[in-house]
Amino acid sequence: MYTISNVAVIGAGTMGNGIAHVFAQNGFEVTLIDVSETQLQKALATIGKNLDRQIAKGVLQEADKEATIKRISTCTALPLGVSNAHLVVEAATENVDLKLRIFKELCERAPENCILATNTSSISVTRIASASGRPGKVIGMHFMNPVPVMKLVEIINGYATETEVTEAVVTMSKTLGKVPCVVNDYPGFVANRILMPLINEAIYTLYEGVAGVVEIDTVMKLGMAHPMGPLQLADFIGLDVCLSILRVLHEGFGNPKYAPCPLLVNMVTAGYLGAKSGEGFYRYEPGSKELTVSGRFA
Ligand SMILES: NC(=O)c1ccc[n+]([C@@H]2O[C@H](COP(=O)([O-])OP(=O)(O)OC[C@H]3O[C@@H](n4cnc5c(N)ncnc54)[C@H](O)[C@@H]3O)[C@@H](O)[C@H]2O)c1
Repeated sequence: MYTISNVAVIGAGTMGNGIAHVFAQNGFEVTLIDVSETQLQKALATIGKNLDRQIAKGVLQEADKEATIKRISTCTALPLGVSNAHLVVEAATENVDLKLRIFKELCERAPENCILATNTSSISVTRIASASGRPGKVIGMHFMNPVPVMKLVEIINGYATETEVTEAVVTMSKTLGKVPCVVNDYPGFVANRILMPLINEAIYTLYEGVAGVVEIDTVMKLGMAHPMGPLQLADFIGLDVCLSILRVLHEGFGNPKYAPCPLLVNMVTAGYLGAKSGEGFYRYEPGSKELTVSGRFA
């Protein structure tokens, strides 16, 4: 039996701040841990802004904002931050060696019965679990960005994840107002195994001159009722992230159908990473919401 009320979130970046926000808003005591104090302060500011947005929409009261923020404490030392945790959600930078190191340290520092979850979008949960010394307690909790808005949590069973751990995480995800979907640990899980080949095919379609950026995105938006075209979505996710996930699929399955499009490889090599670098398939001006196709594809 697992009773979860104290949650430690490791990594206060894009995902970590959203995960801390959602847990705290739903009554959990949260310790947000990052190696960078600046990141922690930025995360708290982002959570405050996002709570204000919820108040403006009428889905949250001012008093709930204060209570939510009060439930979040921050910490730069992992051993201290996880010492009372019933659940750890790791959302640090997507790097295999870093995650293996963190889970080895968690084995030594987190309470014995603590569930250890990772938010990785592409690294094998089974591999991370094997570094933890307690693979039965390790599971994937793949939240989607932006976490306070997106309903899905893809729950990934590692090869050795205990059934009681999965059940506890499923039940808890529901208390966060999320919809958990349990899947098994193979490259890309389900979400990225299906999404990344779609994005890659859209890039091939552009690369081979079948159609332009706007045409490809419009076909998928209006023809398939996707809220965003695949090229715009790739820009939003980050082209470097898309490339790295495609490489995991390509390597993991050894199937040429996952080979990343050479255009994607070139764009990443040249530093055109999408929204975060200011240009990908579209160009992004600070402060502007207008969608302008990059001069290279206009
Ligand atoms: N961004 C997305 O859309 C998205 C979606 C789903 C899953 N993910 C996954 O979530 C995880 C985090 O991604 P992100 O986009 O939030 O990254 P990010 O770069 O925004 O944040 C990562 C944070 O981890 C911190 N960090 C690095 N080493 C650390 C350590 N040893 N201890 C504590 N903190 C450390 C960094 O300082 C940084 O603040 C990754 O595994 C990623 O694959 C990301």
